[in-house]
Amino acid sequence: MTDASGSLTILHDVSFSVTPGETLAIVGASGSGKSTLLGLLAGLDLPSEGSVTLHGKDLFAMGEDERAALRGQHVGFVFQSFQLVGHLTALENVMLPLELRGETAQVRERAQSMLERVGLGRRLSHYPRTLSGGEQQRVALARAFVTRPDILFADEPTGSLDTATGEAVIALMFELNRDAGSTLVLVTHDRSVAARCGRILTIEAGRVASDEWMGAEV
Ligand SMILES: Nc1ncnc2c1ncn2[C@@H]1O[C@H](COP(=O)(O)OP(=O)(O)OP(=O)(O)O)[C@@H](O)[C@H]1O
Ligand SMILES: [Mg+2]
Repeated sequence: MTDASGSLTILHDVSFSVTPGETLAIVGASGSGKSTLLGLLAGLDLPSEGSVTLHGKDLFAMGEDERAALRGQHVGFVFQSFQLVGHLTALENVMLPLELRGETAQVRERAQSMLERVGLGRRLSHYPRTLSGGEQQRVALARAFVTRPDILFADEPTGSLDTATGEAVIALMFELNRDAGSTLVLVTHDRSVAARCGRILTIEAGRVASDEWMGAEV
């Protein structure tokens, strides 16, 4: 809805919390506000109203640098449009979050091993523009996984992948959840991915239409 000032309200009265270790799928029609919500949850976008608390800290009460540091320490994010750094190779893109954390131990090896896990061991020195869409998506996933983040936000993480590759990536995400205790918040149009999550939040026109806890996780 556009108000008199010409601004558009995308999300309305959305309120929920995610428990550490939880797996949450956000589903809903195209344009319903899923990516907008994910960007806010991760502190990448600023809301005109409202708050997001991560690890007990109000994300929007802190400055940009502090928010970026908190994100770097705890958050992995896979953008719907990948957002790889164009002048860095696949390997350098995946090393980046480790370097930003100030880590020095085996940074190159860990990044390489994560790229191997997503089937890109032979694309280490390729630049994003020379990779296919699905390959870029896998670099973006490796970049988000490499720090074993406390919370992983992924926007359509299998959107550009074939069934088998998508299945491998999903398995990797749930392994991260199981082994590193990473909380997963996934936006997906894929019913089978949503069905593997412990909880499904349905967004309709910027509102929470349903919030369902599923039975035992598969
Ligand atoms: N930067 C922007 N400026 C203005 N409107 C925007 C902007 N980004 C998104 N929108 C609008 O906000 C609404 C929600 O967009 P959003 O990207 O969150 O949808 P989505 O649920 O992720 O859709 P999809 O499944 O297609 O990715 C859409 O109507 C979109 O046109
Ligand atoms: Mg989207």
